[in-house]
Amino acid sequence: CGIVGYLGHRNVVEVLISGLSRLEYRGYDSAGISVMQNDEIVSVKAQGRLKNLEAKVEGRHLDAHLGIGHTRWATHGAPSDVNSHPHNSNDGKISVVHNGIIENYMELKEMLQEKGYTFLSDTDTEVIPNLLHLNYEGDLLEAVMKTVKQLKGSYALGVICTEEPQKIVATRKDSPLVVGLGEGEYFIASDVPAILNYTREIIYLNDGEFAVLEGPALQLFSAEGLSVERPTTTITWNAESAEKGGYAHFTLKEIYEQPKALRDTMTSRIVPGQPIKLDDIHITREMLLHYSRIYIVACGTAYNAGLIGKVAMENLSRIPVEVDVASEFRYRNPLIDNRTLVITISQSGETADTLAVLRDAQTKGARVIAITNVVGSSISREADDVFYTWAGPEIGVASTKAYLTMLVALYAIGIHFAELLDTKTAEELDAIKKELLTLPEKVAEILAHVEKVKDFAQRIHGEKDVFFLGRGLDYQIAVEASLKLKELSYIHSEAYAGGELKHGSIALIEDGISVIAPITQRDLTEKMQSNIKEVVSRGAKVMAVTYAENEDVAKYADEVIYIPSTLDLIAPILAVVPLQLLAYYVALYKGLDVDKPRNLAKSVTVE
Ligand code: G6P
Repeated sequence: CGIVGYLGHRNVVEVLISGLSRLEYRGYDSAGISVMQNDEIVSVKAQGRLKNLEAKVEGRHLDAHLGIGHTRWATHGAPSDVNSHPHNSNDGKISVVHNGIIENYMELKEMLQEKGYTFLSDTDTEVIPNLLHLNYEGDLLEAVMKTVKQLKGSYALGVICTEEPQKIVATRKDSPLVVGLGEGEYFIASDVPAILNYTREIIYLNDGEFAVLEGPALQLFSAEGLSVERPTTTITWNAESAEKGGYAHFTLKEIYEQPKALRDTMTSRIVPGQPIKLDDIHITREMLLHYSRIYIVACGTAYNAGLIGKVAMENLSRIPVEVDVASEFRYRNPLIDNRTLVITISQSGETADTLAVLRDAQTKGARVIAITNVVGSSISREADDVFYTWAGPEIGVASTKAYLTMLVALYAIGIHFAELLDTKTAEELDAIKKELLTLPEKVAEILAHVEKVKDFAQRIHGEKDVFFLGRGLDYQIAVEASLKLKELSYIHSEAYAGGELKHGSIALIEDGISVIAPITQRDLTEKMQSNIKEVVSRGAKVMAVTYAENEDVAKYADEVIYIPSTLDLIAPILAVVPLQLLAYYVALYKGLDVDKPRNLAKSVTVE
């Protein structure tokens, strides 16, 4: 989602709409604004692209001196007019735009309902204006300070209130927010591009801080309520690179957003000591006992996530799982009946083949769970159960952060099934949950040390063929890493299971060929080392991705990328990250269009 706010002498509606149009890349399923007009809040909201909002606003002759706006990427509640932001308190006196996820919104909603507040939307955000209303005692800043203490989760907030009609209060925690300063005018925005048309003087708000925009003044406060002074930063980027947050490509930005995407997707669902909480999956122990098998069906990268999902889910729940590509599955007369559970995975939720499988499976009596990143997408609407990944919109055609969060989804569902079926002890599952929660940090650590990956990319960017080798889950990682390299760099690449090497593909290994090997599965490490020796002795140069504890690997491989240690079962989430970067840098050194590789489309809605 993206938020924007403005206080000043310009036409407020114009500034808000212009800001939102610059933020559309952050999400675009609905948009809305609230402006202060004659000390009353007027809110206009519309589902769909921004032009729908523009059409609604036109002709309303809104004349205001301040306002807030929002463009939405749904996480809780489907895209619709009512679920669009801003959200207002019941009496219409407080209006809020929010970017982030409020984890404890159900508790807060119940508490507020008991006090007589009513709710119009399915969103987590709507608790905030009502909670502000409850906490308001004549000072908006104080009410916001009190309210955020009650919120768990992430937020960037812009708040206005008719009792103090000259003011916008903003704050943030774990969601970005900047304040812009012009000549006697102030802005807030999720991101610099929203306001770059008007000002280049920016203050980055720190986590927990508050900004009060009032009349021609700006005040900043610390989390403790103390006044804060901060010089402005002058932005030198152009609008295009600002959209990419200063990264050269959306793909790179999205790779770097992975720690946040993982954290958001796990938040409120995976809590050590508590059962997994999946609000939109309604599968009982009885239903699971009744199922004879699970099919995971998807296309492209989502299919590759499914390969790992199979291993994870069988391991955790002991239910047999088959994985298939949707375009094959639908034409092979698969064995589906009411004892089948189908899991479809689709970032966009619109892939034609995957949607066809979902419909066919339901017709034959199966239940379908969808894993998707797009709330309100066709697949999410038609499935019986849904797991939304909260990766945020993905713009790069080659999927990166969506893939990682699909893996989280599959692990979470696997653990959920294990809890229902008692196939693992609570201690075993708790250990996995705890380790999953460390992964955002560990991914961030990988992303902070990329020199070796860049060097290797430099070395191999002129090659025609590259091979990936792995055993166990490392093979499934190799499959995705190979696809990433193909998509981004147009280098022909193949992934082979280590043990299959001698059954054919070793014939392709010759002097100077590059082999890339993730090695994270501890009981297979020695076997992989033998495979590496086999290819090295035939002239291959090898880049391995492994844990620092595997000191021996450096003796055989030319280059070793070390990743933080983790449980074998969830290692794919870490091991794939340097390989995404490798694909990115190879494409970069080849001078290719990384965000839009030739011949590919982000979402394939035809067969
Ligand atoms: C296209 C994209 C791939 C994606 C696949 C499945 O081919 O280029 O990146 O993995 O579709 O898309 P979905 O939205 O269903 O995950």
